[in-house]
This record gives sequence, C-alpha cells and structure tokens, in this order.
Amino acid sequence: MIRRLRGVRMPDVSHGVAPKNLALVGFMGCGKSSTGRMLASLLQFKFVDTDDWIEKKAGKRISEIFATEGEPAFRKLESDVVRELEGLQRCVISTGGGLIVNPENLESLKKHAMVFCLWASPETLYERVKNQNHRPLLNDPDPARKIRTLLEARTPAYRNADVLVSTERRSLREVAQHIANHFRAVNRHHAS
Ligand code: S3P
Repeated sequence: MIRRLRGVRMPDVSHGVAPKNLALVGFMGCGKSSTGRMLASLLQFKFVDTDDWIEKKAGKRISEIFATEGEPAFRKLESDVVRELEGLQRCVISTGGGLIVNPENLESLKKHAMVFCLWASPETLYERVKNQNHRPLLNDPDPARKIRTLLEARTPAYRNADVLVSTERRSLREVAQHIANHFRAVNRHHAS
C-alpha cells in the first residue's frame, strides 16, 4: 500500500513489528545529519551517525580511510557498523550516502528501523555541498557531473527505502516534523 501525504510517499512499512529506531538514508548533501539531529530532539531519541561511528572505530577520518586503505576498506567498516546498529533502541540513525547501495545493509537496517530516504535534485545537492571538501567521492574535477552520475546509479537502491521524502523547497524543521509524524503514526498503529 502506498499513501501520499503532502509530498511524502508512505508505503506500508510495518514489517510486522513496530520499528524501534528511525534511519535516514540518501545522497551526500540531502540533509541526513541536520535533519537527524532535529528528529532525535523531536522524538527524544539518541542521535547516531554511521560515519562518526566508523571514524571512532578506525581512529581516522573518512577521507584518510579512503586515501590510505581505499573505498573497499571503508565499505567493509561501514557494513561492520551496520551489524552493530542492530542492538540499538530509540535512536535516530543517520547513514553515509553510499551505505544502502549494498542491499544487505538496507536489509539489516530494516530489521530494527523505519528507513526514510531524503530526496533532492542533483542541482540542489550540488548547491548544498559545493563549499564543503570533506567528501572523498566529490573530490572530483567536475563535482556536479559526479553527483548526477552517482545519483543516477544509486537511485534504484534509494527507492528501496521504506519512505521517500522530498526535501526540495522545504525547511529542515518541516522535513523533520513530517518524518516524526509518520514515525509516530506507524508506532501508534502497532500499539493499538
Ligand atoms: C559517502 C557519503 C559520505 C561518507 C563517505 C562516502 C557516499 O557520507 O559516508 O564519504 O558514498 O555517498 P554523507 O552522505 O554523510 O556525506
């Protein structure tokens, strides 16, 4: 079942049990961390960021991991962290933009979390990231083109999230409030 509520696509995300956590996925620059922090405060959940977790585990910045060990080593660390998330409760989890490209990672997230994908056009994403330089994959002579091709390649994976939420022309608070409302509605449904 898919319901459309004020721009939010709302499939039946019950998976048979009430989700304990809420996860945010989506492309670099879509606003996962800032929306996630606001959501955590709205829901009174803890905020967890997979990139921070990886950096803590590895004792290195993400850019350093990419530079010294390469992307496959980073993806391995990412998948290890995803398994560790399975023990969490009452958390808003912000994920790295490539995390759910591996379908096993999405499957693992869906065991305990309702997965929202934040969506924005490649042009908007470029505007949001163009003055930042901490993302190794966008350290490219033509970052706007890189965003377009990477987003196109990843779109099928992002569509597998439980709920797609457009962030275009919406404030952070508006997006966070919509997501919180949907999450609460699903949990109420399970409680009744
Ligand atoms: C990546 C996104 C980054 C980070 C790493 C790889 C990706 O996270 O995990 O640089 O593959 O899209 P953000 O989406 O938080 O920028």
